[in-house]
Amino acid sequence: MRVLAATTNEGKLKEIKRIMEPLGFEVVEPKRKLKVEESGTSFLENAYLKACAYYKEFGLTTIADDSGLVVDSLQGYPGIFSSRFYALDFGGKELPEPSATEANIRKLLRLLKGIEDRGAKFVACVVLYTGDKGLFAEGECKGEILEEKRGEGGFGYDPIFKPEGFEGSMAQLSPEEKDRISHRGKALRKLSELLGGLGYTPQICP
Ligand code: IMP
Repeated sequence: MRVLAATTNEGKLKEIKRIMEPLGFEVVEPKRKLKVEESGTSFLENAYLKACAYYKEFGLTTIADDSGLVVDSLQGYPGIFSSRFYALDFGGKELPEPSATEANIRKLLRLLKGIEDRGAKFVACVVLYTGDKGLFAEGECKGEILEEKRGEGGFGYDPIFKPEGFEGSMAQLSPEEKDRISHRGKALRKLSELLGGLGYTPQICP
């Protein structure tokens, strides 16, 4: 089955391909980035908005991922605002320098300075939309926020997130290890199982 990935986020795209291709999906990248207003109040709503927008533009069965980091002591923030946390009024704004990712991490570490409860989880909601039918699945990865960055792998908040049962950060895991335990890996495998339950057996397009 050929699916369009509704994202131009390099980190996500790489992982969606890495996880979906061995399951028999051909993952196609969008030819251009669409500006989708993520006006939903949940990961599911935002994933659905992205899936519909990309489907409308490109006319292909689309898979969208909306994901983020949910921090216990910050009432669930950054949550659905994870990619633009630096610019949020909540907890004081940061300039996106040297990058939005660095500013997001800087802000989170600043807000958690001296806070004992470092519990957090990554959440991913994935939606597959065919134009008249949709399926969704969610995945979570529990862990805690480190005091400082560790490792070079992954993307986004990975260097400051220590998954439960591991010594190092998500950015220190191999790609295979990350996919095995990650929110995205879990959500996408569930989605594939749902499709299997509907009698669909994916095959890579010739
Ligand atoms: P979205 O495009 O609104 O779904 O933004 C998701 C944001 O959440 C990303 O830009 C990252 O900041 C963060 N995020 C989601 N998944 C991951 C992950 O696997 N590792 C690190 N950060 C992530």
